[in-house]
Amino acid sequence: MKTMKTKVGIVGAGPAGLLLSHLLHLAGISSIVLESRSRAYVEQRVRAGVLEQGTVDLLTQSGLGDRLHREGLRHHGIELRFGGQGHRIDMTALTGGRAIVVYGQQEVVKDLIAARVAADGALHFGVSDLAVHDIDSSSPFIRCQHDGDDLTVRCDIIAGCDGFHGVCRDAIPPGILKVFERTYPFAWLGILAKARPTHEELIYAYHERGFALYSMRSPEITRLYLQVPPDEDISNWPDDRIWTELRTRLETDDGWKLEEGPVLEKGITGMRSFVAEPMQFGRLVLAGDAAHIVPPTGAKGMNLAIADVRVLAHALTRYFGDGRNDLLAAYSQTCLKRIWRAEHFSWWMTSMLHIFPGDDTFGGRLQRSQLDYVVRSTAACTSLAENYVGLPFADP
Ligand code: FAD
Ligand code: PHB
Repeated sequence: MKTMKTKVGIVGAGPAGLLLSHLLHLAGISSIVLESRSRAYVEQRVRAGVLEQGTVDLLTQSGLGDRLHREGLRHHGIELRFGGQGHRIDMTALTGGRAIVVYGQQEVVKDLIAARVAADGALHFGVSDLAVHDIDSSSPFIRCQHDGDDLTVRCDIIAGCDGFHGVCRDAIPPGILKVFERTYPFAWLGILAKARPTHEELIYAYHERGFALYSMRSPEITRLYLQVPPDEDISNWPDDRIWTELRTRLETDDGWKLEEGPVLEKGITGMRSFVAEPMQFGRLVLAGDAAHIVPPTGAKGMNLAIADVRVLAHALTRYFGDGRNDLLAAYSQTCLKRIWRAEHFSWWMTSMLHIFPGDDTFGGRLQRSQLDYVVRSTAACTSLAENYVGLPFADP
């Protein structure tokens, strides 16, 4: 039986937990991160790819920008594709110079782990049977199994950064949380392919057979997604079928062709919108996917997790530094404004771009009208662009 003491006990080594630990370290506040998976697993897990301007700025300001700026792909626009034609949205021109950077989530995670390891940060991978205790007292603690031993982490605050399927949110007593939720009648099949991207920017394609997304990770690797039924079995999708469907949904009338190559990874992800309010109870605070989920069409999930942590690290710095409780008490309320904006944007992009099974022809005409409007009207595409690159952070 081993007991450790720290200021902040962090559950989960995803982008939220790791960045929180890093920002607290920069502010001189100790933390211990407990993660159920191995380091290799979290460093290889393929997920998000789009970093908002504010995310890039925050990572850069906190000393994590070197590889991101060397290897990340800075994009100034995206394309909406429908009716066999592409329509570019010039995000930078529409937002006074803001842009996104395409850089895999697992690369952000690798950079964060490297920074924590270099600073001798306490990161414990491979923990099991984790539970949080006494969260409504002034001395909460986390208990888990690590290296065949019982480990207890005593702390002032517990940060639940353990994703949607974690245990922290469920530790809040019944009746406290209000949950707002929507599930969608489709999923995304995603592949990573060793194929040279033949288009410089991301393509969001609306097609009668379903949505498709063209993205990339590097000058050699393409990342592609297809809308599929929600309960789809990946074994129904041999590589040939995936490429045929991608060609059908993505290729244009003017002869643009998809470059194909060996599929390195494939998987299916369900689509959900979810918010739990408030994001805190007693000495437990939730951040990132532990508190909210968006469908990936707006590329907002990881960016929101990082935005939460920015607010939380600042509030905790005040809490431990000058004993000020007000920012911590307002944490949930502060974050929820940005979260609901991203929830709306992600729902809107999802609704505009996917085929809803059973929808009538009226619904399809409304989607086409919306798409036409977005690409023709400066007001409409400015709204898309400013949400996509990420609205500026509120003070501080
Ligand atoms: P997570 O990354 O889920 O991290 C939580 C961690 O907690 C995990 O490592 C988990 O193993 C650990 N954990 C869970 N339970 C326990 C436990 N009991 N004990 C200890 N540890 C535990 N977002 C974007 O911003 N842009 C995009 O382009 C984008 N595209 C996406 C595409 C796909 C296909 C998917 C699936 C997601 C996408 N997202 C995107 C969303 C993004 O990946 C998530 O929002 C992001 O991972 C949230 O980070 P997090 O740290 O909150 O949670
Ligand atoms: C990705 O590159 O994985 C990606 C890009 C944009 C999205 C979702 C995922 O909206």
